[in-house]
Amino acid sequence: MEFLRLLLVFLHLLGMAMLIGVFMLQLKAGKDAPVNKGWLHGGGLQLITGLALMAIEPALDDVDYNHMKLGIKLVVLVVILGLAGGFLRKPAAPNWLNPVLGGLVVLNVGLAVFWT
Ligand code: HEM
Repeated sequence: MEFLRLLLVFLHLLGMAMLIGVFMLQLKAGKDAPVNKGWLHGGGLQLITGLALMAIEPALDDVDYNHMKLGIKLVVLVVILGLAGGFLRKPAAPNWLNPVLGGLVVLNVGLAVFWT
């Protein structure tokens, strides 16, 4: 079970890296570019791996997750997915969207690391 947790954390960190990568790609695409679908792929990976980590918690020894923190991370991620998904069909993403999505990702990294 510990190996499964490590595997999920591994994928969770790759998902975070993917979101930062998509932020860079969106920045490079410039204004008038559509929303990059990678927001949904990276966000989906974070959702699946995060929820799976929560689901296996009862079977783990020495792990006691902060559920308030995880709930807030979940809300932040739902906002990311909602915003990216909402503008997916538009020909151009609004200028404010990329910094807001990137900021929300960084917020979740901060919550993950600093709120124990
Ligand atoms: C944009 C979305 C997210 C980002 C960038 C993110 C980022 C991170 C990072 C960097 C860590 C490692 C923290 C550390 O080891 O000190 C982490 C751990 C964790 N995250 Fe997330 N997270 C996101 C969403 C979520 C969601 C939605 C959930 C669950 C509902 C979740 C559940 C967890 C759990 C349970 C851990 C602890 C894993 C462990 O060390 O055993 N995360 N997250």
